[in-house]
Amino acid sequence: MSKQIGICRAHTNIALIKYWGKRDEVLFLPMNSSLSLTLAAFYTDTKVTFDPSQTIDSFFLNNKKQAPQETIKITAFIDLFRQNYSLKGAVKVESHNHVPTAAGLASSASAFAALAGAVNQAAHLNIEPTLLSTYARRGSGSATRSIFGGFVEWQKGTSSADSCAVPIDDADWDIGMIILAINTQKKELSSRAGMKLTVATSPFYPAWITSAEKDLAEMKQAIQQQDFQKLGEITEANGMKMHATMLGANPPFSYWEPDSIRAIKKVKSLRKNGFMCYITMDAGPNVKILCKHSEMKFLKKELEKEFASEQIILSDVGPAIRSLSEKEWLDL
Ligand code: DP6
Repeated sequence: MSKQIGICRAHTNIALIKYWGKRDEVLFLPMNSSLSLTLAAFYTDTKVTFDPSQTIDSFFLNNKKQAPQETIKITAFIDLFRQNYSLKGAVKVESHNHVPTAAGLASSASAFAALAGAVNQAAHLNIEPTLLSTYARRGSGSATRSIFGGFVEWQKGTSSADSCAVPIDDADWDIGMIILAINTQKKELSSRAGMKLTVATSPFYPAWITSAEKDLAEMKQAIQQQDFQKLGEITEANGMKMHATMLGANPPFSYWEPDSIRAIKKVKSLRKNGFMCYITMDAGPNVKILCKHSEMKFLKKELEKEFASEQIILSDVGPAIRSLSEKEWLDL
């Protein structure tokens, strides 16, 4: 049998309604549904080669062979396909993360979406995108949403089969995002550990769930009406509520740094001056600003008055996953 190859690009996404907490840690079933914007600026390219001459999986990230503890995660993920589709043989996985180093953004969303896409292609499985999103989910929850472009909902579902991503809108109505990199060091507490501690100990958690479902319904309406202000206001409020749950955890924790607060204040003052820009933050100190695409360049100039220009990255709306040719891969 000859080698079988699949190459796929997936973009990362930023949640506007956050996923924070699992109801099933093995199946990656979330407590609440979430909604994100896929970003053009950050993506992962992954090549999967099923190679009958190999007996163990190998994993290379940015041309560096990864240690066994990293490769184990890849093996466990590909085992899901091996089991369900009776696939045989070891794989070589090669990934390139296209995330500006200054961004300090986690890449697990684009990583597992690209890996799912590349396996699908290499093994000729023809899995349709919604079902593929349930596989991506098993690598990292946020990867579910990276299968599609634009605004994407991850419906929490009732089981592993229907906890999947659904494209909501292509976000082609003057939408942009600015990433303000505050600190690019690896965080002390992963999102996985942070959400687990919050679910287990924060008395604010039940309120988060009720509130997130309401925010989601209202955000979907805002998207349908292309009401940017409403979209932004819900984005900012939802992110803040997620961070509030962490202060209620035992022990309490926060991902914020002094410069995160400086950025929040700056965005608020820009808003007072008439710009429609809204904050969201994830499991780290970096600040993401949802804004109008047409105002991004001006906003960057304003932010440069307080932050170094390398800290400020502009992103267009990103597309769905797509296959890459061998030539595109070699040209990387
Ligand atoms: C704050 O998807 O990284 O970014 O499912 O455990 O891999 P695991 O967690 P992950 O968590 C993302 C949390 C978040 C919010 C979001 O992206 O919805």
